[in-house]
Amino acid sequence: MCGIVGYIGKKEAYPIILNGLKRLEYRGYDSAGIAIYDGSNIQLCKTKGKVADLEEKIKKEITIKGNLGIGHTRWATHGVPNDINSHPHLSNSGNLVIIHNGIIENYTSLKEELLKRGYTFHSETDTEVLVNLIEDIIKKEKVKLGKAVQIALNQVVGAYAIAIFDKNKPDEIVVAKLGSPLAIGIGEDEFFVASDASPFIEFTNNAIYLKDEEMAIIRIGRDVEVRKIKDDSLVAPYIEELKINLEQIEKGGYEHFMLKEIFEQPTVIKDTYRGRLLVNKGIIKLGGLEDYIEKFINADRIIIVACGTSWHAGLVAEYIFEDWARIPVEVEYASEFRYRNPIITEKDVVIAISQSGETADTLAAVKLAKEKGAFVYGICNVVGSSISRETHSGTYTHAGPEIGVASTKSFTTQITVLTMIALKLAKIKGTISHRDFMLHLRELELIPSKVKEALESNGKIQEIAEIFKDVKNFLYLGRGHNFPVALEGALKLKEISYIHAEGYPAAEMKHGPIALIDEQMPVVVIAVNSNHYDKVVSNIQEIKSRQGIIIAVVTEGDTIVKEMADYIMEVPKTPETLTPLVTTIPLQLLSYHIAVLLNRNVDQPRNLAKSVTVE
Ligand code: F6R
Repeated sequence: MCGIVGYIGKKEAYPIILNGLKRLEYRGYDSAGIAIYDGSNIQLCKTKGKVADLEEKIKKEITIKGNLGIGHTRWATHGVPNDINSHPHLSNSGNLVIIHNGIIENYTSLKEELLKRGYTFHSETDTEVLVNLIEDIIKKEKVKLGKAVQIALNQVVGAYAIAIFDKNKPDEIVVAKLGSPLAIGIGEDEFFVASDASPFIEFTNNAIYLKDEEMAIIRIGRDVEVRKIKDDSLVAPYIEELKINLEQIEKGGYEHFMLKEIFEQPTVIKDTYRGRLLVNKGIIKLGGLEDYIEKFINADRIIIVACGTSWHAGLVAEYIFEDWARIPVEVEYASEFRYRNPIITEKDVVIAISQSGETADTLAAVKLAKEKGAFVYGICNVVGSSISRETHSGTYTHAGPEIGVASTKSFTTQITVLTMIALKLAKIKGTISHRDFMLHLRELELIPSKVKEALESNGKIQEIAEIFKDVKNFLYLGRGHNFPVALEGALKLKEISYIHAEGYPAAEMKHGPIALIDEQMPVVVIAVNSNHYDKVVSNIQEIKSRQGIIIAVVTEGDTIVKEMADYIMEVPKTPETLTPLVTTIPLQLLSYHIAVLLNRNVDQPRNLAKSVTVE
């Protein structure tokens, strides 16, 4: 779970790689490093810390020049984050230099062999083993770099996206992929390599996304040569035209990506349903679903697999699928599902939800479900990601790049897609009345403006954040469709402010958590107009009578909860089934402001990374 960047061409490689690493820091940020070939030597600089620390170190210590280079931003798997374990890693001769995103699981046995053959190691990493294994093969087998990489990777167990070059062949970079993403940008007389297209998007719109078990030899003056790692056979590469632009991946005037992404939600929810939600015609058109409707209609059950925020979106879906489409739904943590020998049959439909499309556990769950014969449908944001390729079909969320590590717009756009699927299935099955179907179509179309309205409370929420920034614990309560929103609110606060928070179904409170309530304990209660309103009011009374502090998310115009709550955050009136799309907004803003006031690194919280490509 790291970011890799490489460049070969006529331009200075350093600024391109440095900038690329900054864009990829969402993938890991505990150390960073760069290696540039200056025409005679490989100049290497690495450091614990962020890309900005690397930049400072380079400014102080070396002048980096050259047209060939690679860079890395790390999220440690093997070896603590420190200067030595940072990538790039050199081979013993100093000729080869490599960057790696992934894990070499059998690195210990490979290392033992290499130690016997006289190799020495400076770091604790699996990557240094790989680069020396490649060097050893070059020497032993008298082969070129590309062939040696292929032979080495056939001995390796694990996952990788690597880029490597040999200072004696400075017109070439060799890359390979299994399990971790790798894109090759194709410019004029220049090539880029990166974990995603963001490092090279201002230079070229043409890219090859390597598939698993593929490698490529990228040589100046030649076409990219893609080969299968297993048998060395040539593959005709597919050059994709990229649709993202630079503005989409920059902060656009906001202080943090997270805030930008929170405020993008009215736009991206619209992007998600654009061309799909045809209110005037009374239809929902989802390209990926049309040919597979029967699979869903005839399914014994739908199993949703996901992690983190995407799992919360799955929980919201459970309510709406069962309510509208009357199909039994189970929502599973992908990490548990894949290891518990689950019962899956050909009559099951598995929906995998993942913003990045790269989450290792979700990807493994997808593969397992396929093996067992289920039909697997993906809901991903990143186009061309591993999960979107591995599933039988799917729907993209179209949320645009999400850079802030804490998921915000991916949650609401995932719910938008899931809502459209549930409504469409219900209509076809006849389990929803025409009136209800049309009402929800119209209401879904109005969600972007309601989210916009909810965002107008930003200033007020900032004031509430100021009051609560120093508390140590928070409880979040919700019922029905808003129970998953309570979980999501608590997760957001935990991950970016490091304050302990727990989400609970409001009625469960009296089965334990109520013991925590005292005059120090803020309880965020989602108390919008719904079938559960009266029950939530009773839960609020239970908290108030134990001196708890109530911060309530209420519907505009509410009077009852407003009277009882200490602080309120208003959202526009919305049909109950769609409320998660609006009630989540104040909770995102609350956690954002608390984290900012605590001076936390909002976009890159400690210990986290944007895509979790390790188990
Ligand atoms: C929370 C968060 C994580 C992700 C989880 C799954 O804000 O970002 O919990 O939701 O790692 O990631 P994806 O959706 O990329 O599979």
